[in-house]
Amino acid sequence: MTARPPGPHDSLPNTHDRKDSTMNDHAPRISVIGTGYLGATHAAAMAEMGFDVVGVDADPKKVQALSRGDVPFFEPGLPELLRRHVDSGRLRFTSDLADAVAVSDVHFVCVGTPQRVGSFAANLDHVQEATRAVAKAMTHDGVIVGKSTVPVGTAATLRAMIEPLIAEGVHAELIWNPEFLREGMAVEDTLHPDRIVLGGTTESSEAVMRRVYAAPIAVGAPVITCDLPTAELVKVSANAFLATKISFVNAIAEVCDAAGADVSVLADALGHDARIGRRFLDAGLGFGGGCLPKDIRALMHRSAELGAFSAASLLQQVDEINMGRRQLIIDRAVEALYGSVLNRRIAVLGAAFKPHTDDVRDSPALNVAAALHLRGAQVVVWDPEAVPTARRDFPTLSYAQDLESAVRGADLTLVLTEWPEFVQADPAVLARLVRDPQVVDARNCLPAAAWEEAGWTVLRSGAPDADAPQRPRSRTEARSPRRVAELVAR
Ligand code: UDX
Repeated sequence: MTARPPGPHDSLPNTHDRKDSTMNDHAPRISVIGTGYLGATHAAAMAEMGFDVVGVDADPKKVQALSRGDVPFFEPGLPELLRRHVDSGRLRFTSDLADAVAVSDVHFVCVGTPQRVGSFAANLDHVQEATRAVAKAMTHDGVIVGKSTVPVGTAATLRAMIEPLIAEGVHAELIWNPEFLREGMAVEDTLHPDRIVLGGTTESSEAVMRRVYAAPIAVGAPVITCDLPTAELVKVSANAFLATKISFVNAIAEVCDAAGADVSVLADALGHDARIGRRFLDAGLGFGGGCLPKDIRALMHRSAELGAFSAASLLQQVDEINMGRRQLIIDRAVEALYGSVLNRRIAVLGAAFKPHTDDVRDSPALNVAAALHLRGAQVVVWDPEAVPTARRDFPTLSYAQDLESAVRGADLTLVLTEWPEFVQADPAVLARLVRDPQVVDARNCLPAAAWEEAGWTVLRSGAPDADAPQRPRSRTEARSPRRVAELVAR
């Protein structure tokens, strides 16, 4: 693996050795296959960088919406960027993959790799299908660039798969260029990547990719060139590390709970050590979303397949700690309601897996909400962006119109996603609306002192809890009539 220092004037030597290469003469034209979070953002960002881009999606409804400049999901800044370039004519969308490939030189494969049903392995059907279709449709020289998150070894298999499909006289290369974008920050992360990983390039395809990424390279984005398996592994290892960091701090939160220490202060103190860093040390309900959970499971599965059992067992533990956080919050809610949530009204604030997105895939918040609903609680959910997506996945839960109506009459309030709307809410106003001002701050995000001042009992994890001695320790204890009477009289 070689790391190249960034160069603002990184020259792009024309190393393409074929005389007929269209890429020698003009800026590479780009096709993006798959227009989900990754593909739609990548396509718009490539247009912003000055390229002619065609986005391809098998779903004609998605193509129609994107062609109008409408983004079918919530991603700050993306609608504006997309509309600007649909209007400028640099960006268009189609369902006709062959047409898009015929007019392009660099083909980004950005389709999904969901978890397989009944297994931890990644489902590679879409990646294989898309890559095969691109290879078959190539009418002139070009580079197929895998961006999807795949298990190590996939790219080599894809290379072998497409070899017989490439037309006579066409020079095609398949390389891997993983994406590290975060939802909610997708535009920023794509326009200003903190690193560009290029796996399996030749001199020729590296030159093309340096031309594609000339803008971020010019402002200092480091380029790391490596082999295919390393590029594939960088992505999943990055996510596995982030997940491990979160589960680490959540495991420490458990120790803090037992010892009466404060995990937030501890994380701040740890974070001052530059080797550790403060980010991804927020203890609470743990991680969810469309990437971290599925990626660590796919890596767990692949590591075990390869006989690398240390990674597999480490990630198993990370996953277990993470899932345990959801159960912990469910238990906290049951405890706070004296042992039974049956017919008790619970306001759930937050449905998205994190703030600034409407994505509810593997959302810890909805997982907790649904579990309490199944135990007979009257759960009312509110989220600033994710109510429509949550309603689609969990139609049996009740959804409020706004924050106030969510908490009105609540016996218990749960803050499960750290939206600024909840952090900045006026606790005095909310206290007047609820039946019982007790809140489980599952993200340790509320200004606890202000809430307590306004009359709330704030239950946090990994934080010294003023009410701890009064709270029931077990369900049996919680249900005892003496205990209930004591607590009700509080
Ligand atoms: C992640 C990676 O960050 C990104 O680089 C990769 O390309 C895709 O996966 P994303 O899924 O958008 O991005 O979410 P991220 O911001 O990483 O958060 C993941 C989850 O971890 C969220 O549920 C969040 O609430 C949780 N989290 C994050 C914590 O519980 N504690 C923290 O300290 C940080």
